[in-house]
Amino acid sequence: MGGTETDIPLLVDGKRNDGRTIDQMRPVKIEAGVLERADGSAYVELGETHAIAAVYGPKEMHPRHALIPNKGVLKVRYSMLPFSVGDRKRPGPDRRSREIAKVTREAFESVVLLDKYPRSAIEIDINIMQADAGTRVVGLTAASVALADAGIAMTDLISSCASGKIEDTVVLDLNGLEDNCGQADVPIAMTGKGEQIALMQMDGLMTKEELNQAMEYAVTGCKELHKAQVDALRRRYQ
Ligand code: CDP
Repeated sequence: MGGTETDIPLLVDGKRNDGRTIDQMRPVKIEAGVLERADGSAYVELGETHAIAAVYGPKEMHPRHALIPNKGVLKVRYSMLPFSVGDRKRPGPDRRSREIAKVTREAFESVVLLDKYPRSAIEIDINIMQADAGTRVVGLTAASVALADAGIAMTDLISSCASGKIEDTVVLDLNGLEDNCGQADVPIAMTGKGEQIALMQMDGLMTKEELNQAMEYAVTGCKELHKAQVDALRRRYQ
């Protein structure tokens, strides 16, 4: 949420700067099993935001002192590749990437059956290849498909998208310009069958009514993504 001023109108007669309606998500593309060497992988595009996720494991837990005798440990790494943003991103972890990795791990801890993997680690590696807002939600959506592709036992898939507020209007799935110049951004993640919220964050300010509307849009978006995730996994195993 940059709150930056722009001369480009974000909303004209109910249409956004990229031609979408207020409740329309950017075009979605999901592919499962895109990497030969990982145990599971997925590629997800949501408009101009592109992410690839790889899953390794279950494998031996390192460092040994961090292993948990009766359950597995999820390790999540989120990185924005240097060429993913306009100004070259300095490689390596930073405060933001650690925060995103943490909330992503917590979301997956609610669905992965960690009791099935005592003393083990499951590694989720999320790489943002191109960023145009919503990288955490696209990364999460990719990681969920990669976990399923790796055969990791889960109660449900997780799908994730964001709603936001631009020019005092709640909209689904902010693009980069909207994120930069908008008033609020609410990323959420939802389980596919159970429709339980696995992640919810908010940047900016919304009224209670706006937040309810944002949730309604994001839930619809997550359902659309869930369908695309299932389709991708079906294509992979057909
Ligand atoms: O990406 P996401 O919306 O999950 O998180 P954010 O921290 O709200 O970042 C919003 C957007 O700002 C990203 O998607 C990128 O397009 C942009 N960004 C950037 O250009 N350079 C960074 N170092 C971080 C974010």
